[in-house]
Amino acid sequence: MYYIGIDLGTSAVKLTLTDASGAVVKSVSEAYPISYPHPHWSEQNPEDWWQGVCRGMEKLLCGVDRTDVKGIGVGGQMHGLVMLDAQGEVLRPAILWNDTRTEAETRYLNEEIGKDFLQRETGNIAFAGFTAPKILWVKKHEPDVFARCEKICLPKDYINYKLTGAFATDVSDASGTLYFDVAHRRWSAPMLQVLGIDESMLPRVYESADAIGVTRLFGLSAVVAAGAGDNAAAAVGTGTVRAGQCNVSLGTSGTVFLPTDEYVFTANPALHSFCHANGRWHLMGCILTAASANKWLTEDILCADYGEWEQPPRPENGVFFMPYLSGERCPHNDGDVRGAFLGLTHAATRLDLAHAVFEGVSFAIRDCLALCPGKVTEATVCGGGAKSRTWMEILSNVLNVKLSVIDAEGPALGAAALAAAAAGAPFAVTPSVRSTITPDPDFAAQYAAKYEKYKTLYPMLKAFYKEETV
Ligand code: XUL
Repeated sequence: MYYIGIDLGTSAVKLTLTDASGAVVKSVSEAYPISYPHPHWSEQNPEDWWQGVCRGMEKLLCGVDRTDVKGIGVGGQMHGLVMLDAQGEVLRPAILWNDTRTEAETRYLNEEIGKDFLQRETGNIAFAGFTAPKILWVKKHEPDVFARCEKICLPKDYINYKLTGAFATDVSDASGTLYFDVAHRRWSAPMLQVLGIDESMLPRVYESADAIGVTRLFGLSAVVAAGAGDNAAAAVGTGTVRAGQCNVSLGTSGTVFLPTDEYVFTANPALHSFCHANGRWHLMGCILTAASANKWLTEDILCADYGEWEQPPRPENGVFFMPYLSGERCPHNDGDVRGAFLGLTHAATRLDLAHAVFEGVSFAIRDCLALCPGKVTEATVCGGGAKSRTWMEILSNVLNVKLSVIDAEGPALGAAALAAAAAGAPFAVTPSVRSTITPDPDFAAQYAAKYEKYKTLYPMLKAFYKEETV
């Protein structure tokens, strides 16, 4: 018996085939473009996602007895707005999680509707990347599109719709819309009223491991799970399912994910309070640029090889990087701030710049961790950034946390686990740990001092760009 986990990412879709025990048999990946047509905009064509899934499925299933595939689960990039017409056709490119065009709508929600109301009804305040402000933006700027819109869903829900014809979502992904009542795991009627949309436009809500239908595409007859947002799926895939655990993901975005037994009304609203894929809840901090900053510097700017950066770090070099290439979500909620290198001298090398990127992203992750209740001493790490040993050493020392670096792609493995559960044959996820890294007291002290300096830089940049909404 086989299960397929699909991770609908921002740079690519990754598909993983597992056996009945949860062991990874094969993985493939298909890339698709992202477009930034205007400053603050970030869009993708849902049809590109679907074509990527179709190509990936054919490659994944080549040589596999398709009758043995019993379940499919999809984990996907969260918050994206997908709008469909009465025939289920896509009306406009999806507006992604790292799109910050909705500053005005976000401000309206936080200031006029009010953070208290939002937190009471949904568990969260508004961030530009969340789905609700995007709906308000389309209503205002593209009224013709809104008038033709009959269905609104999230990226992975569109894939599930194409696979099964069922219009469904799951609680973890729905949590990032800001029109979902996280405490009660249902759509928020008061928020739908604020947005002026009817519940009939929204998918039916399921728990992540529920079956929503069967797909007969690709020569399969496989149960499809409701699936999860990519971070909840990654948490399942890395075994981050109990209170007290922590997973750090370094993909296009960076996240800190902490499961909780109960719904937590966060003291600091910069931290998201969402449903987990395991029937419980979690807290999460999200930064908008993580491994994508390394990709940008290495591939687009320096045309280098990633291996070049695998050298001992020198925190004392005085070079800083602020990773705000898409603005920032947590903790600043600031779509206008931009990235920066600081502390450059004639002595600065390309290695210093690359390590400054590793450090800057790690400091931004520490900003999120600083908001979390309790003291985190151990965490798993997954995502593309986890492939760099040097980065993992820097991260471990910046956070002062022991890290277990997970080998497999977290979200795809988690999605396969949800598929198995939906098919009635749950497997135990046993994440394989590639390496463990323990912080070194001297190194950690140097990074603690550098972090104090780093923290003084955002207020300067904020003043420079003169915008803030939290
Ligand atoms: C989480 C978030 C990102 C996306 C993209 O809130 O916006 O992690 O899910 O992966």
